[in-house]
Amino acid sequence: MSYSNLIIETERLLIRPFSMDDIKPAYVMNLDAEVSKYTGDGGIVSKKEIERRIQEDVIGDYKKYGFGRLAVELKGRNKFIGFTGLKYLEYMDEVDLGYRFMKEYWGKGIATESARACVNLGFETLGLSKMIAMVLPENRGSIRVLEKLNFEYEKDIIENNQLAKVYSLIKEIASTAKGL
Ligand SMILES: CC(C)(COP(=O)(O)OP(=O)(O)OC[C@H]1O[C@@H](n2cnc3c(N)ncnc32)[C@H](O)[C@@H]1OP(=O)(O)O)[C@@H](O)C(=O)NCCC(=O)NCCS
Repeated sequence: MSYSNLIIETERLLIRPFSMDDIKPAYVMNLDAEVSKYTGDGGIVSKKEIERRIQEDVIGDYKKYGFGRLAVELKGRNKFIGFTGLKYLEYMDEVDLGYRFMKEYWGKGIATESARACVNLGFETLGLSKMIAMVLPENRGSIRVLEKLNFEYEKDIIENNQLAKVYSLIKEIASTAKGL
């Protein structure tokens, strides 16, 4: 599989690699203070910084590790609505699941649908045996997404100067999750 040609289709979503065309909508998404509230990665940042993140942190990861975060569109709409996906964290030697969506798409099961596809990608295609997710304790929605995918609380850590909860999922447990 060439990661830069990857397309995952779920019931409602098309999940694909980021391109530089995603800079503008990703920037607009991040401008929403509610979206950036619990992300712990600097909150609202400049368009230049979003461009750097997509180029270096996301597309850079595809080249360096063979996988990285993915952009999400509603099927048939050809419009960026957020991101999902796996990121290798060198400093922890763990693979992290993350997701973020424009507010108008919250509450429809989209984060869960996209994250479930990424859990499958990680365990079935990329050959991972474990993944983690980091979440701020107040982020009830994100914790609920993780619980629905059978992630379990592992430990507390300090991340970006904030207390964060680390959840984890191992392959054997994932395969018992509903719908996987
Ligand atoms: C967190 C986020 C990704 C959830 O996305 P979503 O598409 O609304 O999530 P889903 O619709 O798949 O919801 C999954 C579950 O969480 C629950 N949920 C969602 N938001 C919630 C909230 N704010 N409080 C409590 N429960 C919530 C849903 O009810 C659902 O549970 P249920 O099926 O038992 O009813 C979305 O709010 C978001 O993009 N937030 C900003 C970025 C962010 O915080 N990312 C995560 C960083 S760790």
